[in-house]
Amino acid sequence: MTTTDPAKSTPTAQPEVPEQAGKILAHFAGYVGFKTIEMGLNNGLFEALRQHPDGLTADELASEANTEKFYTGVWSKAAYGAGILEQSGADKYVLAPHMDKLLLDSDFPGYVGGIVSVFGQPEIFDKFDENLSSGKRTWWDEVSPEFIGAVSGTGRPFYNRLIPGGLSKIPGLVEKLEAGASVLELASGAGHGLVKMAKQYPNITITGLDGDAYSITLARGTVADAGLTDRVSFMQSTLEDLDEHDKYDLIFVNISWHEARDIDLATDNVRNALNPGGYFVISDFPFPDDHEGLRTVPARVMSGIQYFEAQIDDQLVSTETFVKLLRDHKFDGVDSFIISPLHNVIYGRK
Ligand SMILES: C[S@@+](CC[C@H](N)C(=O)[O-])C[C@H]1O[C@@H](n2cnc3c(N)ncnc32)[C@H](O)[C@@H]1O
Repeated sequence: MTTTDPAKSTPTAQPEVPEQAGKILAHFAGYVGFKTIEMGLNNGLFEALRQHPDGLTADELASEANTEKFYTGVWSKAAYGAGILEQSGADKYVLAPHMDKLLLDSDFPGYVGGIVSVFGQPEIFDKFDENLSSGKRTWWDEVSPEFIGAVSGTGRPFYNRLIPGGLSKIPGLVEKLEAGASVLELASGAGHGLVKMAKQYPNITITGLDGDAYSITLARGTVADAGLTDRVSFMQSTLEDLDEHDKYDLIFVNISWHEARDIDLATDNVRNALNPGGYFVISDFPFPDDHEGLRTVPARVMSGIQYFEAQIDDQLVSTETFVKLLRDHKFDGVDSFIISPLHNVIYGRK
């Protein structure tokens, strides 16, 4: 079938029904894959397979993971179908290459397993659905500890890519940190970035700022467990209320700068709080700013995150938006780089 594109006044081909149905079915298949991964993580099935690199039959897997044999066979076939498992010999299954690191190792820079527990929380889809008519908003002090824990699991690989790999791409920064610098992490959440920075750069002192009291308590615990209490301090404040001057050599923020309620005020506050020559580093999701970009796989994952961002009254933004923000606020040497399809870094100096 053909129709006429009014913009061009030339006939354009219309996709056929099976092609359009295929798009929908691909989403359903993705949902089955997601739920299969979720069940594999929740029931220790991937973990059992990791411990048996030579493979397990579905029955052996059931014995190892303490699951029921028939159900485990059904799960194994779905996980094979999703490309998460491969076959080994006639009847055994093994994890497909790198799935152990990608799904199970939260210290691996490419770890994506954390997204499963975030998307599994009611805060993302169920609450958005519930409030789609009312547009009711929420904030971090109203979400569950499970949600905060899951988000912090998603933040871990961002920290692992940023520290030290990402930071080492910023001219002059590592030398400053190694010599001993004063560092502030904004929106420090559960504190994993504070610990990672303090361990990586033994001469720095670091402060964690967060507006949510529960997150500060959580971060204090993370820092205490790492034995770093003497090098890390805390400030409960919003980004907009930060009121310090010429104090820090580095201020950084992980997957949170898009959450500032008044981003211009917050950026001014950062500039004021930096020492002359100090660095501001934003590590965040690069959401596309054109419709073309929305159809990529990373953007579609980020569109899931946008459902929660909307509920706290913000949205992920593009790297270009942050570059412009820093230039508008008179930062010098503003630049950016891609660390992964879901992760960009933007930086500038006072
Ligand atoms: C997505 S979480 C990220 C936490 C941490 N950076 C990580 O990567 O795991 C966002 C954090 O920012 C904090 N936050 C959001 N908006 C804020 C604001 N305007 N002022 C202060 N903290 C804020 C929240 O309380 C939450 O701990």
